[in-house]
Amino acid sequence: MRETLSRHYTNSGIGKLLVSNMKSTSPNSVLDMGIGTGCLTQYAIKRWTEAIFYGTDIDENLTDLLLKKFPTIKYFHIDGFSKKLPKTVQFNNGEIDVAICNPPYNEKVPINGYEELFELTGLSSLKNFKSVSGDLIFLAQNLRFLKPGGELGIIVPDSIITGHNFHNLRKNLLDNHSIDSIIELPDRVFHKTEAKAHIMTLRAHVSSDKPVYITSSNENGICDEALLVEKSRLVERMDFKFNSYHAHRYPPLSSGRPINYLDVDVSRGNRTKIDLEQKGVSYYHTTNINELDIKNAVYDGNPSNRTVKRGDVLLSRVGKRCLGKIEFINHDLPIEFSDCLYRIRFSRTSEAEIFYKKIKSTEGQDWLSAISHGTCSKVISKADLMNFKIP
Ligand SMILES: C[S@@+](CC[C@H](N)C(=O)[O-])C[C@H]1O[C@@H](n2cnc3c(N)ncnc32)[C@H](O)[C@@H]1O
Repeated sequence: MRETLSRHYTNSGIGKLLVSNMKSTSPNSVLDMGIGTGCLTQYAIKRWTEAIFYGTDIDENLTDLLLKKFPTIKYFHIDGFSKKLPKTVQFNNGEIDVAICNPPYNEKVPINGYEELFELTGLSSLKNFKSVSGDLIFLAQNLRFLKPGGELGIIVPDSIITGHNFHNLRKNLLDNHSIDSIIELPDRVFHKTEAKAHIMTLRAHVSSDKPVYITSSNENGICDEALLVEKSRLVERMDFKFNSYHAHRYPPLSSGRPINYLDVDVSRGNRTKIDLEQKGVSYYHTTNINELDIKNAVYDGNPSNRTVKRGDVLLSRVGKRCLGKIEFINHDLPIEFSDCLYRIRFSRTSEAEIFYKKIKSTEGQDWLSAISHGTCSKVISKADLMNFKIP
């Protein structure tokens, strides 16, 4: 039950941070959809003492607890995915001043019937998916209830902030609403989940050219240095890790041409370490990059599209400690490589050598770390890697 309802309650440091970071001073109405035990509302009710509070949740066991804890709150036991929401609650579209939310995000929801909602809330790119995660339905529901200029503080999963699939959604958000801040939350901030998350605050249905405040927080809600980033730079990625790399570290990396423009093939191995082990052949994997015993190597004998050749570069694409480990192949044995590695094959050896040297440098390794996705086991996506620039 706990997991199916995505009840990863907000810890107190993060709840306090979400509310204190919002700009609204004296809203008339505050909505907390998926209120749970009120981890966010408890801070909001202290800050906005004059406001009328509304809470919704699908969990029927919460009613007594919430009414005891917050006697003045107007609580609705309803399904936040329902398309009929405005008929069930006591407020209409465009009426709420402030919304705070830590939505459920485990559930996959088919988008049939939500097209109008996505259109109404300026999130039309979501119509291109067959289904979306629950947090995106909650994002749209919150936006529908907010008045123009109303403020939303919402916890969103990393995929929305950094994923390639959500490039158009980020554009929708930047074009149709005014994002004020993005705060990257620490890994494992939600009990029992590895999912990475961010706090996003925005003003609904209004536009602004102001740069966005981007920072990161520890689990007590204490924030790092802040960056002010131009909106146009946030379509690619909105996270602090990526943007702070570009703001402070190595602006020269932005010079040169992405390898995408060169004649290069980036392939991932198609067998797991276990498959290769069972096959009884030598193979490259994250654990033996630069350490494979070539003299005693065992191999099938035939080069294939999953074996290496002289001049290839192998790169660890997943892992924590081994992410970015790299080897330049200097032999002619057709040895296979696991699905945890990319084989990068340039048609020109000179380009392979330049790439290898640059990506192996501290500058290159820092870049890989900045573009990586995920929590404990980091991943480098092929699309990101293709953006690496060489002179
Ligand atoms: C991630 S928890 C957040 C709870 C609380 N707001 C907090 O910050 O700790 C998500 C909440 O959404 C509720 N929920 C899950 N699915 C829902 C649905 N379809 N409609 C309404 N609430 C839902 C869960 O019961 C849970 O209380």
